[in-house]
Amino acid sequence: MGNRLIFLYLVLLRRVHLAVVPAPASPCYALNSLAAAGIVLGSSLVACKEKKKNKVPEIKEEKPEKKQLAPGFKPGEPEIKFAEVQKHNSVDKGIWVTYRDGVFDITKFVQNHPGGLERILKAAGGQIDPFWAMYAQHNVASVKDILGEHRIGHLSEHEYKNLPPPFDPYQTDPKRDPELVVQAAKPFNAECPLSQLAKQEFLTPNEKFFVRNHLPVPTGDLVDPKKYVLEITPGEDQNPVKLTLADLQDEKRFKRKKVSAIVQCSGNRREDQNSVAQVEGLTWYTGAISNAEWEGVALRDVLEYVGVPSDLGMKSELEGEDEQLHLQMEGLDRPKVGEWRDTKGFYGASIPLAWAQDPRRDIILTFKMNGEPLPADHGAPLRCLVPGVAGARSVKWLNKLIVASEESQSHWQQNDYKAFNNSTTWETADFASLPAIQDMPVNSAISSPPAKSLVQLTPEGCVEMKGWAWSGGGRGIARVDVSADGHTWTEAELQRPEGQSLTRTWAWTLWTAKLPVPAELQKPGKALSLIVKAVDAQYNVQPESIESVWNIRGVLCNGWHRVQVTIQPKRVAKTRLEFGHAD
Ligand code: HEM
Repeated sequence: MGNRLIFLYLVLLRRVHLAVVPAPASPCYALNSLAAAGIVLGSSLVACKEKKKNKVPEIKEEKPEKKQLAPGFKPGEPEIKFAEVQKHNSVDKGIWVTYRDGVFDITKFVQNHPGGLERILKAAGGQIDPFWAMYAQHNVASVKDILGEHRIGHLSEHEYKNLPPPFDPYQTDPKRDPELVVQAAKPFNAECPLSQLAKQEFLTPNEKFFVRNHLPVPTGDLVDPKKYVLEITPGEDQNPVKLTLADLQDEKRFKRKKVSAIVQCSGNRREDQNSVAQVEGLTWYTGAISNAEWEGVALRDVLEYVGVPSDLGMKSELEGEDEQLHLQMEGLDRPKVGEWRDTKGFYGASIPLAWAQDPRRDIILTFKMNGEPLPADHGAPLRCLVPGVAGARSVKWLNKLIVASEESQSHWQQNDYKAFNNSTTWETADFASLPAIQDMPVNSAISSPPAKSLVQLTPEGCVEMKGWAWSGGGRGIARVDVSADGHTWTEAELQRPEGQSLTRTWAWTLWTAKLPVPAELQKPGKALSLIVKAVDAQYNVQPESIESVWNIRGVLCNGWHRVQVTIQPKRVAKTRLEFGHAD
């Protein structure tokens, strides 16, 4: 009980802190970045305010003054040898750690550590830098302030410089396409380049597909296609059934299934919310979305094969909310430092079991993406692809499936991807009061022309626009409207995904439009705001303002998308050839 109270106090402290921290002034900032520490950026706590189009932005590093490397510096504090720190490595001897060049006695703190005693003891007598690089929740000022309270001294400059560099758990991550727009390097998070989105290809090439990782990409035997094993627990108190990749790919056992589907991060377009007021999370522009053709086997078939009655999920829902069953998913991505792997800290999510078994939801266990074996960044060798739902539920590097009476208890299901109202602050946010984000709301964005570009008007006085639109839960797109003033609208031409009905649409709808610019705005050098909004097949429409959907976590940003452009100073006249006068 005591621990719980202290934990709540710590969390409150953090929330209060976050609520009062002003938006950083620097154009690109990374919390907890430091060259000597190997620069590891927390997954959801990194914000780069300005990105150059289609270029990998340089992650700028703080170069703090010597004495500000670690929190809690006290003038006159002693210099402590690292060998002395190493001696304090147990509850009996006291627990000292270093963070950057600071030395901290955390003996009193460890018992109340929200992440548990066992974990914090892994760092006893050594550096916490590599651990904090893994657990993004530490990469906030409020947690560093707590650490600062326990400061007892610092390492000498010479000794600090000569410490072996902290282990980089991301060193085994795969090579990536340099055109991906990187929003965080470690863990790796990057947008599909705008130039790719503007091509309007239904299938995003694998190497240009946006990447959302929470932890290092798993490596070794566990993800080796020849040794890979999926563990499925068909119900509480039942033994898990193991299936190899070869079992799943055996076409005599499971029929193959292909689905063209979007994966989108629920924080896509977060930057628009940042323009209202700073939110917490990766600064996604419009490219945390891509579409691919996924091939695999129907999840419902696999569940049935291991003994889950095909109507179990539906029946559980009919019995009432309390009886609803869930399908928990666990990934193989988990924090690791050196040889140590956190067996309890895996990435996890869940969906209602009824969806997992519903043939209409087209959920598959996928091992191929656009005809290629699944790439490492996208979950090789096996990913659970949940179309129409927040990307966070399409668990990569799938390790376990568990039929359970409760949702996944993971941080990402319980305490992360939820959208509060505009007035809720970190102090008042009660994550338990809201459902986890699942089906995504209707959304759209302009892929061309890009923001801040010069646009040529067509001879008819139109601006040519293109982009994407989609809605969650299989709802197709009924209409896409574009405007230059927010009052007069023109319907865009839609390219809907082939073979997907309006009630089972999982891929994006691509649109193009010729937007007539009102005569009074057709002035060379005039700034224009191009606007798009989409309407889905159930007539849900994107809300006008970003303010109305603003929330502290910056998720589900689906207000009208606007792009500011300037009319090219001179209208380009049609050539004689175009008019048919080829003389
Ligand atoms: C002096 C060192 C440390 C301090 C002061 C510290 C402090 C904290 C604080 C304040 C939180 C709560 C953050 C929040 O949710 O707002 C937290 C959570 C956590 N910490 Fe640490 N920590 C330390 C070291 C470690 C180490 C070495 C590990 C792992 C090996 C670790 C693993 C975790 C985990 C997994 C959580 C999340 C717990 C949950 O949400 O269930 N921490 N820590």
